[in-house]
This record gives sequence, C-alpha cells and structure tokens, in this order.
Amino acid sequence: MKKTALLGILCLLVVFPWINAGAANRPMPDDVAERLVDLGSCIDFLEKTDKLVRVKSEVDPKYELAGIAKMYEGKKCLLFEQVKGSDYPVFIGLLWNRNTIGDLFAVPKEEVPFVIAGAIGPWKKNKDQYPSPILDKGPANEVVEQEVDLYKLPVPIHALKDGGPYFDSSVVVVKNPETGIPNISIHRMMVTGKDRLTFLIDPGRHLGEYLEIMEKRNEPLQVTINNGVGLAPWIVSAIPRQGDGKHGIASHILGRPVRLMKAQTVDVPAFADAQFVIEAEILPNVREPEGPFAEVTGYYAHRDNRWVMQVKAITHRKDPVFHTLLSGQEVWNAVGFTAEAKIFATVKESVPQLQRVYLSPGGCGFYGAVVQVEKDGPEVGRKAIEQTFAAFPPLQRVVAVDTDVNLYDPIDVNWAITTRFNPDSDLMIMKNQPGHILNPMVQINPDGKGGTVTKMGMDATAPYPRTDKFERVKFIEVDLNKYQME
Ligand SMILES: Cc1cc2nc3c(=O)[nH]c(=O)nc-3n(C[C@H](O)[C@H](O)[C@H](O)COP(=O)(O)O)c2cc1C
Repeated sequence: MKKTALLGILCLLVVFPWINAGAANRPMPDDVAERLVDLGSCIDFLEKTDKLVRVKSEVDPKYELAGIAKMYEGKKCLLFEQVKGSDYPVFIGLLWNRNTIGDLFAVPKEEVPFVIAGAIGPWKKNKDQYPSPILDKGPANEVVEQEVDLYKLPVPIHALKDGGPYFDSSVVVVKNPETGIPNISIHRMMVTGKDRLTFLIDPGRHLGEYLEIMEKRNEPLQVTINNGVGLAPWIVSAIPRQGDGKHGIASHILGRPVRLMKAQTVDVPAFADAQFVIEAEILPNVREPEGPFAEVTGYYAHRDNRWVMQVKAITHRKDPVFHTLLSGQEVWNAVGFTAEAKIFATVKESVPQLQRVYLSPGGCGFYGAVVQVEKDGPEVGRKAIEQTFAAFPPLQRVVAVDTDVNLYDPIDVNWAITTRFNPDSDLMIMKNQPGHILNPMVQINPDGKGGTVTKMGMDATAPYPRTDKFERVKFIEVDLNKYQME
C-alpha cells in the first residue's frame, strides 16, 4: 500500500484502490454482523460510540417527532423513549450520516458501496451459499398482538402536509407467485384504519408485477411488512431490479444467513430478527387515496388512488423499537449507496477504467451521479456516462471526472467542469428518456405509468492524450507531526 497521505483528500485517493480490492474478501467480525442485523445491537453500538441522543420527554408522533428529528438530520441518531399514545420507543436517523453508516459496517464511508457490490457478485454466482433458515418462532414473533390495531404503534405523521401516519422504513416481503421465491423492497405505507394501509408501487417494481398476476386471478397477494430489520437487510432491500431472493445479498455481506421465520396468517416469510412484523394481504383491484407524502425530492408526492393492504396480524419482540426515517438525507444515502454499488458492479464489466461512483446529496441520491475513470482513451468518459445511465435509470445527470479529482467534493467536481469540460464536444443531451415519477421535472405519461425527462451527461475528464496544460498542480506531502506548531 502506498504511503498514507496526511491531507484527507490525498489519503482517500491513495488508499481507495486498496480498500476497493480488499473489501469483498474480508471476513466480517461477529459483533459487526450482529449490529447490522439486529437493531437493538445497532442502537447499543451507537450509544457506546456517542452517536445517539435519547429523547426522554414525551413527544407527539404527529409532526413533533419529525420536527425534532429535522434539527438532528445528518448528526446523531435519536431514540424517542416516550411517544404519545404508544408503548413503544421510536428510532430515527440510521442512515442520515454516511460516517455513521461506515462505522456500523466497520469500514470508511467510501468503502460501503464496495462492501455491498462485493456481496452482489458472489451472491449472483452462488445463491445457495447461505440458505436462510425459516424458523417457526423468532424474536419478531415473541409477542402476537391479540387485536390488530395499527394505531397502537408509534407511526409518525412526519411533514405538515402528509396525508396520515406513515411507515416509511419497513421492508415488504412478497413471494413471486410463479416461483415462490421471496423478494424484498421498501414502500411508503399510509395508515388509513386500524387494519388498513394504502401504499405506493413505482413503475418497474417486482411487487407491481406480482400484483398484476394476482389481480388477473382476482386473488389477494400476501405480504409481510418488516419494521426494524437491521441495516444489512434494509439496505439490500433498496437495491432495485436485482432479482428475487436478494435478502441473500445481506447474508453475503454478513458472512452468515439472514434468518427468516414463518408468519401467523400468511404464507410469506418474515425477518426473524425484525422488531415488528405486520402480516397483510394486498387486495386485488382495490384502490384508495394515499398521500400527500414528503418525498425524497423535498416535495410532496400528490394524493391519488393507490394500492390497499388489509392487515391480518401484528407480532413483535418483547421490547420492540419502532424504526422510522426522515425523508431527505436518509433516503439520499440509502438509495445513493445501493445505486453506487449497483452501478459500480454493472458498469465496471464494460468500462474497466471506472474507479468510483458517487450519488451526491444534491442529486437526492437518485438523480445525479459523478463517475471517476482512469482515462486511457478519448471515449472513456462518454462511455462511462452512457453505461451509468443504463445501469440506474432514475439518473438525470452524470458527470465524468479523472482520478486526480475528488468526486466527493462538489468544489473539486465543479473545478473539473470549469477547466476540462467543453460544452461543444463534451455535453450529452438525451431527450425523451424514462424518468423517475417522483421528480417533478418528469413528464408523467398519459396512462399514468411512468414518465419521460431529458437527461444530461457532462464529460469533465481532460482531453486524451493529456497535454502539459492539463497537468494538475501538486504539492509535496508532509508529516505535520514533525513540526513544532502552535
Ligand atoms: C426509504 C425508501 C422508500 C422507498 N419507497 C418506495 C415506495 O414507496 N414505492 C416504491 O415502489 N419503491 C420505493 N422505494 C424503492 C424500492 O424499495 C427499491 O427500489 C427496491 O429495491 C425495489 O425492489 P424491486 O426492484 O425488486 O422491485 C423506496 C426505497 C427506499 C430506500
């Protein structure tokens, strides 16, 4: 490994290739695996490492809880110990700080996408390496609620115009009706009754495809809704279009199988180590109003008739903690890390010059990416941009930079655009591309299914072959410890 540089950015540039190569093969220590799959252990770790604030006063889940959380966004996580109207505490902030996520994975934050990408490859090659046991009893069904009443759970109403209390951080497990293999994904779900939820399915989701099959048969689609599943299965469930059985990617991250368990009333497994499990059926051909909801974009998603779930049972741990999130940096990081992992794993195959990918916060984790390439030919930047758009369709803007640019630093990326980007030759405009329906710039199709948008690529890599005038200024690396300084 090269000599570690003192300045942060140089350190990153030097160390990263080593980290990148080693991440996938490093065994995960038991305590790290445990805190990635058990929310209680995760909270203990956060407390021990001074990353948690306990809110002792009683807090109203309607607006007040999210209002306090907003003041802490990007900082320490919060545990609300007393939530008005409920017996259960609420945890928030798991994903709003990339440093915290890195610490939970026990790697520098820049390495997290490589840990995920490093698990996707082996999982694809051997999906049976860590078969998940399906337990009869697990921590998540220690208590079976006698009466189904969602209003007993501390489900917050987050933003001022949200249409109701929202589950915004729970993992839905569904079985592919044709193969029986489970798929996992996260969906926002609004509580509309003691046993009723309305929820969103974006175009292209597996859940939507499976529901279409069941609606043709006019039969309900059974699901389990898993709250507080732990960071590894949670983050894996946010990787789009990965294929059924993707909870196995979490097993590859942990180096041991993620445990599933039988549900009480539906024939779909649940996460045995979740905090709460809500068993439900999606009603065929029924639509009821859902929304508005404060979305990842910083805008409200509009109210419309959407899919409906009827809840059949609620189970939980003896002392469960309810997990929620604040729409904003938490989702930017969650989608950002998983998209970075997916783009890296996919694009690297056709563009081996790709070094790193970053979905910067201003792009809401969905819409803007910076890709860094080791340029060894004139078309490398453009090719990386094209492949990145293909690998993650919600993207609307991709910038390519060289390896001497710190892609995590918006000033450095802007410097590259200012000094290496020629709009005449380096700008790529792609009209009528499929867009993500939550972005208000996307024109929704007349049938309401999906929409289109114009996308922009900017190749801000230096022209190839690089001439002297594009040589970046460098300074000597010094060890400040050698100097007497006050
Ligand atoms: C916090 C969060 C909330 C999400 N909410 C929704 C949602 O309400 N509807 C939806 O279709 N996708 C939502 N997603 C995205 C999907 O959960 C994600 O893309 C998933 O991997 C889709 O799986 P699939 O491709 O197997 O269908 C959300 C993702 C995150 C991280």
